[in-house]
Amino acid sequence: MSSTITGAAVVGGVCGQPIRHSMSPVIHNAWIQAAGLDAAYVPFAPAAERFETFVEGLRGGAVRGLNVTIPFKERALALADTASDLAKMAGAANLLIFAEDGSVHADNTDGPGLLGAIAAQASGFEVSAAPVVILGAGGAARGAVAALLLAGAPEIRIVNRTLARAEDLAEAFGAKVVAAEEATLPRLLADAGLVINATSLGLGGGEGPAADLTLTPAAAVVVDMVYKPLRTEFLRRAEAAGRRTVDGLEMLLRQAVPSFEAIYGVAPPAGVDVRAMALKLLGEA
Ligand code: ATR
Repeated sequence: MSSTITGAAVVGGVCGQPIRHSMSPVIHNAWIQAAGLDAAYVPFAPAAERFETFVEGLRGGAVRGLNVTIPFKERALALADTASDLAKMAGAANLLIFAEDGSVHADNTDGPGLLGAIAAQASGFEVSAAPVVILGAGGAARGAVAALLLAGAPEIRIVNRTLARAEDLAEAFGAKVVAAEEATLPRLLADAGLVINATSLGLGGGEGPAADLTLTPAAAVVVDMVYKPLRTEFLRRAEAAGRRTVDGLEMLLRQAVPSFEAIYGVAPPAGVDVRAMALKLLGEA
């Protein structure tokens, strides 16, 4: 089916700085076209200091919904009138929904994206069955902690180069989230069900975190939030150890699903191979 943009079109978009390499417009517009919706999804890159002014202008009804990406996620949460529990827990929003009365609701679909990617690439995995080890303590780690806690993770261990940052994160979430020294990793990995790289290590083809993944139980699942390259060094090591792996691209694609539903009011149509499209954009296909 093909779609036409009329005067009644529903407009959505994605806002970041820079935005030109975002895959979201290609993904959402492919779904719009396949569903035959009278709709569009466009990229916005306001000057960093004018993000709030930009969103303020949208309260007039210009767009139905807006995905938000680096570096605006924290500011998006701060300017919203209401926010989901997940966005509040994550301390960041990647989705703003504009109501007719001019109010703005913040949500976070990055966490559900992580859970969706795990369900897709490590089917049958139970988040509640064993402790989680997260490498990194930045915004990406925080979003993962929020979603995993809500999904029933029994314990989340945060390991970070800067221990103080891991401690701050753990303190913000309560008793189930603990900060640990890098030197204790071997012990932390020994009974972990899930290991997640939420650092930027490995981006662009580097080494990745130094964690020895052979120490994890055989049933452990290893996730890398980095998706450039798709098969990071970290995931290759997990595979070599015989562990199931989940890639960062799947996370990115899965966060788009609830975003699309919230903006356009319908689920993305089946039968669009957005992963193949994304791989092409990444130069991996
Ligand atoms: P994001 O929003 O993607 O999480 P961030 O807040 O900048 O980005 O966090 C980046 C994470 O990668 C942090 O955990 C950072 O560790 P520090 O808190 O010690 O800075 C981690 N990181 C980045 N480069 C690293 C490196 N060379 N070695 C170890 N950790 C690194």
